Amino acid sequence: MKVAVSFLSLKDDLETTIKKINESSAEYFHVDMMDGIFVPNTTYTVADLKKIFKNVDKKLDVHLMCCSPNKYVREIAKLPNVEYLTIHYESHRRPIDVINMIRHTPMKVGIAINPETKVSHIVPLLKSVDQVLVMSVHPGKGGQEFMEDILYKIETLRDIREENNYHYIISVDGGINDKTSKLAKDAGADMVVSGSYVVKADDYEKQIESIR
Ligand code: DX5
Ligand code: ZN
Repeated sequence: MKVAVSFLSLKDDLETTIKKINESSAEYFHVDMMDGIFVPNTTYTVADLKKIFKNVDKKLDVHLMCCSPNKYVREIAKLPNVEYLTIHYESHRRPIDVINMIRHTPMKVGIAINPETKVSHIVPLLKSVDQVLVMSVHPGKGGQEFMEDILYKIETLRDIREENNYHYIISVDGGINDKTSKLAKDAGADMVVSGSYVVKADDYEKQIESIR
């Protein structure tokens, strides 16, 4: 199981947190970008991210919780080390247009779905994406409880991938700890995103190992 660490809910200062994640065995930094419109909170601008990740070599898994995601693609593509750029299905009228835009950059592309969005809505997009991010909380903030009733979506996505020979990874975001990560893994997830469970602890590595 791959692990991406979200640093929304900090215990230490930002610089220390970034350094500790960078030195951990986690595969990715999970970067939660919020615009105050798609979700009520705002987080980092691309300029902030440029500074935050100046001395970082770990890859970034960027999760864009913003309306008009197309407006961000060009700038995010200029950041170093972005492997995935994931947009929300609910954030654009024609998500395929934004997916195609991202495909013209060196970044891989992901599609995220809110807890109330059914997999059937994104079926036509699945052949074009490298990651499906299944939200297991309502997007907007860290520290919420994992919603078990999303687990069937992971199974459905795994079946669709197998039947069609698609290549996307299935990632799960929100409320991940040692127990919920096991549920996600058993359902077929390839990656989990964990925030508070990791960055609110002293020993990040111990937490990361427990969710793998
Ligand atoms: C929620 C974010 C998540 C969140 C995860 O909007 O997309 O990435 O920060 O944090 P925890 O693990 O605390 O739920
Ligand atoms: Zn996220």
